[in-house]
Amino acid sequence: MRIPSHLAIIMDGNGRWAEQRQLPRIAGHHRGVESVQEIVAECRTLGVRYLTLYAFSSENWGRPEDEVNALMGLLGRYLESELDTMCARNIRFQVIGEIDRLPAEVGQVLRRTVAQTANNKEMVLTLALSYGARNEMVRAIRELARQVADGRLAAEAIDDDLLSRTLDTAGLPDPDLLIRTSGEMRISNFLLWQLAYTELYFTEDLWPDFSRQKLHQAFAEYARRQRRFGLIAAQVKGEENH
Ligand code: IPE
Ligand code: IPE
Ligand code: MG
Repeated sequence: MRIPSHLAIIMDGNGRWAEQRQLPRIAGHHRGVESVQEIVAECRTLGVRYLTLYAFSSENWGRPEDEVNALMGLLGRYLESELDTMCARNIRFQVIGEIDRLPAEVGQVLRRTVAQTANNKEMVLTLALSYGARNEMVRAIRELARQVADGRLAAEAIDDDLLSRTLDTAGLPDPDLLIRTSGEMRISNFLLWQLAYTELYFTEDLWPDFSRQKLHQAFAEYARRQRRFGLIAAQVKGEENH
């Protein structure tokens, strides 16, 4: 079965999962971490090369302070507990987003995890944290504008490829498949540039209920899709993309 080389996931629905059970929202985030562990492990087993998870958006900073604090604590503990597994399974860890906005302790754990997994080769796990695609693009455009203003770059040299290489996702291919859980059919400011030709898959399952079996269903659907990239079917036929 053709599996995506780069899978991106909007992990949504933790709060509703908890509310349905009269639990505090943070209980849903705790269960969400278990789904993360299961899906990371399964992606690695199936040979996904790049896995990018949307964990906290720029807009999520506006949530109630206790939820934001609880999420930050959970994140730090998740990373600490996963380091050994990432090393054992040869997973390189990285982050995209405005990392400077995160609490200092979280920043420290992040840097440590990135450094200690830097030479791992089998899969790249990217966490989008304090991430918003518009913010990412604005930062990249500012960087290019600075280079043009300093005379280090000609405006004509700016093309798709250079912009891609200036974004936080530099070095990652564009996602082949995007999964969003919880029934919402929107992108919520995730990877707006990179998703240009990504296959989109929406499921009603809430993120804590998203299991390896659900992942297989998504991959089966992906394998049935024909990606045309603007061409006609006869041109892409037989040319198994990714
Ligand atoms: C996704 O679950 C996790 C984060 C955004 C941090 P939500 O917290 O958005 O859950 P719902 O959408 O309210 O159910
Ligand atoms: C998107 O979920 C962000 C993450 C999953 C981290 P949200 O719950 O924040 O998105 P909206 O508000 O429903 O669009
Ligand atoms: Mg949500």
